[in-house]
Amino acid sequence: MLTLGIETSCDETSAAVVSDRKLLSNIIASQDEIHKKFGGVVPELAGRRHLEVISGVVESALSQAGIKMDQVEAVAVTKGPGLVVCLLVGLGFAKALPWSRQLPLSGVNHLEGHLLSVFLENPQMQFPFLGLIASGGHTILCLAEDWGRYKMLGQTLDDAAGEALDKAAKVLGLPYPGGKEIDRVSKQGNPKAIRFPIAFTKHSELDLSFSGLKTALVRYVKEHPESKDHLPDLAAGFQEAVVKALVQKTDFAIDKFKIKSMVLSGGVAANQRLRSACEELARKKGISVSIPSFRLCTDNAGMIALVGEEKLKRGLKDALTLDARAVLPLENWK
Ligand code: KG4
Ligand code: ZN
Repeated sequence: MLTLGIETSCDETSAAVVSDRKLLSNIIASQDEIHKKFGGVVPELAGRRHLEVISGVVESALSQAGIKMDQVEAVAVTKGPGLVVCLLVGLGFAKALPWSRQLPLSGVNHLEGHLLSVFLENPQMQFPFLGLIASGGHTILCLAEDWGRYKMLGQTLDDAAGEALDKAAKVLGLPYPGGKEIDRVSKQGNPKAIRFPIAFTKHSELDLSFSGLKTALVRYVKEHPESKDHLPDLAAGFQEAVVKALVQKTDFAIDKFKIKSMVLSGGVAANQRLRSACEELARKKGISVSIPSFRLCTDNAGMIALVGEEKLKRGLKDALTLDARAVLPLENWK
């Protein structure tokens, strides 16, 4: 089934074509240049930019897949979580085809897209697996039992891992988008030169917390102003604390739920240090680990088309009244 996917939940306008879990195209138009001068995403500007480019992005996705608009058989679109002003642009555009040609429409949870994006490169991937979703808005540990069947095991109680990295980059005067910059600068630093604390979460052993880490960085820089001359060490130390926290909780979950296979996904999964730390953990535990390639870690419509196709194959269609949801947990549909 030739499924057109559309993703506009934050600051990337993306369109993709998927057929039987195979990615035929995946176009991503980044808005980094627009938001750079503000040091973060400005929702109003992001929404307007989506509106300006979405038509061209969809055309490119169709052309790269070698198909015409009238060959599209189904449409999948991100319904949330995300910035409503941005989601609405994708939803509005996505609904035109189902409305005019009575094609099936699927509203996809962005988090589910991240979690299952590994199927695009590994269509034979087997359930169950432990999922660690680390993005700019979410940090989740979950058990993926099947398509549409998930158990939440833990999540951040405050900032998401990506948000912590982005905020740290701002404190260190690194440009937006910060997570990627921290990753780049850390490569020249010593992760052990400055140690930052890992939060202990009383609430549940599988929950995480990153807000104290940012405060620790702010305090350290204030107390040691000369440390800014050793930016790579500061960045590497901070990144190491984020990675350690994620790996520590994943380690607990592997033991507690007797995990045999895990998946790392979401924008922060593009982080080199986190990728190698998860690979190391999996080796140590004797389990398998799957991590999408860099382009499929950050926001993209390929993962949305993939999940939409699977839902539609199971007869789960959405009506044209489908609406944007700013907050949307990882929900079960089975
Ligand atoms: O999944 P994503 O593209 O958007 C959300 O759903 O939030 O994730 C974006 C987050 C941002 O916080 C960004 O700084 C972070 O992923 N990120 C990275 C890297 N690339 C993107 N963090 C660390 N290292 C990277 N290489
Ligand atoms: Zn995302």
